[in-house]
Amino acid sequence: MPFEPLQPGATIGIFGGGQLGRFLAIAASKLGLQTAVYAPEQDSPAFQVASQQFAASYGDEAALERFAKACGVITFEFENVPAATLEIAARHCPVRPGARAAAIAQDRIAEKRFLMEAGLPTAPQAVIESQDDMPLALAFLERAGRAILKRSREGYDGKGQKRVSSAGELKAAYAGFGEAACVLEALLDFSMEISVIGVRSLDGRMSCYDCPENHHKGGILHTSTVPARCPEKHQRLAKDMAARIAEALGYCGAMGVEFFVMPDGAAEPLIVNEIAPRVHNSGHWTMDACAISQFENHIRAVAGWPIGSVARHSAAVMTNLLGEDVLRWRSILADEPGSSIYLYGKSEVRPGRKLGHVTGISPLTDK
Ligand SMILES: Nc1ncnc2c1ncn2[C@@H]1O[C@H](COP(=O)(O)OP(=O)(O)O)[C@@H](O)[C@H]1O
Ligand SMILES: [Mg+2]
Repeated sequence: MPFEPLQPGATIGIFGGGQLGRFLAIAASKLGLQTAVYAPEQDSPAFQVASQQFAASYGDEAALERFAKACGVITFEFENVPAATLEIAARHCPVRPGARAAAIAQDRIAEKRFLMEAGLPTAPQAVIESQDDMPLALAFLERAGRAILKRSREGYDGKGQKRVSSAGELKAAYAGFGEAACVLEALLDFSMEISVIGVRSLDGRMSCYDCPENHHKGGILHTSTVPARCPEKHQRLAKDMAARIAEALGYCGAMGVEFFVMPDGAAEPLIVNEIAPRVHNSGHWTMDACAISQFENHIRAVAGWPIGSVARHSAAVMTNLLGEDVLRWRSILADEPGSSIYLYGKSEVRPGRKLGHVTGISPLTDK
């Protein structure tokens, strides 16, 4: 595709209307770009800050065509946009990153295959596409002892996965997922989780922010901390692996790659957990601890503009406000005047729902 940077004033289309889309739209507006958000839910948080709203289903061809014709480039804030939707949009307007990155990341079986072909280490696993695969999966579980059954498609924030340690539990979990295709992964005793937020420009230059150390609660990200308490060489390796993934995908934009850091002496120091072909929750601290955030850099990349520095000027701790945590907004404002609070404009408080986050920064002591 020819290198055609967008002009200020042009419109960036965003599939998906959650908080990631909302931050992308805010970043675009800082750069003098308009945004059109396409999402099925009428009350999408990103609609509140976008220049144009398309509330329609992902299968609505007429709406998709109107949307794509209104945009200079289209991106997405979540990877589960149906492949057919991206294809229809791509007939009228460039989609960055492309449909291939979404197709791989929305299917764990395809994702693992892609990672293995790229020579990157993944958790030992067995694929269960149908009952025929159950004998092998049971033998795998017998060897592994403890494992996690993950639905191949439509899982996020720990949903669509179940820990299992016996044949009975595995069979029940598989039935519970309606016998949908799954990956059975050995439960790893990692020492830490880190991620890489990398940004690749349209002309193929890759930059990576420092790795945050991530802690989850019930499978949902709770805190991201930079610097991570993890050897520099591991962080370099993680960035290098993220760059290889982006290169293999011919990627454009921001990408999150999640890693398990294994204990000393393990066969592999790092295991790739999953790829998110979009801006990532574990990169929210870049809004406060870097001159140029992951959101602005994603917009710059898909607009065909040079990406900005990924350098970090502060240490940071980002804490998600999950479910009722958000009700503390008033005391956070009053008691933590140095913290930056973000509320996503979602009205319904549900347990585990991401409703906001808070980032505290402090001067660098690690460099
Ligand atoms: N193989 C594994 N071993 C140990 N913990 C795991 C494994 N896979 C996932 N987890 C835990 O569950 C979290 C969510 O799993 P993940 O595969 O990243 O799904 P999601 O799409 O919900 O983020 C991970 O960040 C990690 O804390
Ligand atoms: Mg994950």
